[in-house]
Amino acid sequence: MAELDLEGLNGLKRSHYCGTIRLEDAQKDVVLMGWVDKCRNLGGLVFIDLRDRSGIVQCAINQETAPEAFQKAGSLRNEFVIAIEGTVAPRAVPSTNVTLATKDVEIITKKLHILNPCKPLPMNISDEQLPDEGLRMQYRYLDLRKPRMVRNLTMRHRVTKAVRDYFDANGFLEIETPNLVASTPEGARDYLVPSRVNPGKFYALPQSPQLYKQMLMVSGLDRYFQIARCFRDEDLRADRQPEFTQIDMEMSFVERDDVLAMIEGLVGHIFRETKNMEVPAHFQRMTYADALEKYGSDKPDLRTDMVIQNLTEAFGQTGFAVIDDGVSKGQAVKGFVVKGQGGATRKEQDLFKTFGVAAKLPGLFFIANTSNGIKSSLLKFLGEEKAAAICAKAGAQVGDLLVLAVGPSKELSVALGKVRLDIANHLNLLDPNEYKLLWVVDFPMFSWSDEENRLVAEHHPFTSPLPSDMDRLESEPLTVRAAAYDLVLNGMELASGSVRIHQRNLQERILKCIGLSIEEAEAKFGFLLEAFGYGAPPHAGIALGLDRLTALLVGESSIREVIAFPKNTNGVDLMTGAPVVVTDEQMKLVHLQYDL
Ligand code: AMO
Repeated sequence: MAELDLEGLNGLKRSHYCGTIRLEDAQKDVVLMGWVDKCRNLGGLVFIDLRDRSGIVQCAINQETAPEAFQKAGSLRNEFVIAIEGTVAPRAVPSTNVTLATKDVEIITKKLHILNPCKPLPMNISDEQLPDEGLRMQYRYLDLRKPRMVRNLTMRHRVTKAVRDYFDANGFLEIETPNLVASTPEGARDYLVPSRVNPGKFYALPQSPQLYKQMLMVSGLDRYFQIARCFRDEDLRADRQPEFTQIDMEMSFVERDDVLAMIEGLVGHIFRETKNMEVPAHFQRMTYADALEKYGSDKPDLRTDMVIQNLTEAFGQTGFAVIDDGVSKGQAVKGFVVKGQGGATRKEQDLFKTFGVAAKLPGLFFIANTSNGIKSSLLKFLGEEKAAAICAKAGAQVGDLLVLAVGPSKELSVALGKVRLDIANHLNLLDPNEYKLLWVVDFPMFSWSDEENRLVAEHHPFTSPLPSDMDRLESEPLTVRAAAYDLVLNGMELASGSVRIHQRNLQERILKCIGLSIEEAEAKFGFLLEAFGYGAPPHAGIALGLDRLTALLVGESSIREVIAFPKNTNGVDLMTGAPVVVTDEQMKLVHLQYDL
């Protein structure tokens, strides 16, 4: 690159952001600063698309009226950093780009200052097509120049601003809790930090502020919230990062419905402030048992109905061995209606079958209710009348398709739940601009871990059982429901929380159920059990995934798109190279030795 005579700002002050200039600004003198998005030379006229965080504006440089600027423009390349002094004018030919906010104006340039050059770029900033993700992560600072990323980070800022305003207005205190903690049991693995001054001892990075926020309730702080960074060493997916952010809250002297109402208000406020959109004042509620039975998932996507129904009785004895043998073994026949797909071609039905295979359902059957009567490979077994009765029972009207399978009841629902979503996706029934919010309540308290050969807490062991189920804690623990709730948005778990245990004896009982002896419980959670002895108020809370919420609000399918500097799926930050090897000297300081 030729040596450039670079200029400093020399007292030059920016007057406007590029993307904010409108027709009303015509005749104004402006000073703009930013990056060259594009540069076109039309002979005696150079057009620069100048970009900053707010957007792009066209700057025209005329050889005759601004010869010095015109000459300098000859050395410009994409992403040079420049300042323009000029006058706003209506654009002679308005831009054909209707989405360009500044399409009606241009800047008649008087002076051009080159502030910094730019090397040839590894990616094209103005290209909407995203390059390879590895490249994007390595040059994340360039990737973040893209308008789409600026939009995403702006949305994230607006969400956190709305959260702070809402909680402040509702009497919550924002309180920070430590990041160097003793291990917290949220179910994932901990990130460990060796202590230099305490040889052989480790901090854990918090998986969530759970125990601290409960302590704050014991302290009488009554209403707490925090935009809290959490760390979990788990396998990464599109909706999981090793460090992520929760909108965390806890309230004292409340019951479940008080927390749900507070969060409904919060979510309503966020949608209003960030999308100018109203969501229902109260969200639909569904029990965990219903969600699994009807949607085969504890996070049903309600943008499409296609409710899974148990049709075993309607089928009765069929003469078709696959069904009859299954039912005789106690299995169920279940299915759901796909509206308007009665005319689905053979090819399409075959595609639906591949969805079934992917969900471990090799045998999917169809009954099509068409204007020419009922069509189905099962017709020879069922006969017209029974097939029609099954359609009527399932609510499959003329024009609809009934998708069916047979199998063990629970697993069948889960598999059909996956097929339901694949079909809905294939038919474009899941509108990204529709937001379906749902509370799933009454989760099971425990599940059985084959790996650990013991009961584990479904939410976390500080969650209260439902009072009605309390007496079965020891006798039938797997039937006990928890006062736990999830907020689901479009099939994604957005938030999770519970009413907490606040009495020592109940907490000890639960820890015993998950296989902790009194001594182990004391060693791990002694401070909590002790605190419960000093006047702990009844309390409850919840945490929302900020990354997930923001991704849904901007329509991104991966939370990496709404995190400034995320890790890749191997947990690596490709820009800085973290995690990195450290020196022997550093290892020595923290009393560690390699044994790879
Ligand atoms: P939970 O573990 O369910 O509950 O987490 C709450 C919410 O945090 C989000 N989340 C994540 N987001 C991105 N990457 C991850 N790895 C990740 N893990 C979780 C999800 C989830 O719903 N202390 C309890 C909350 C409480 O009981 O108050 C807790 O952490 O959106």
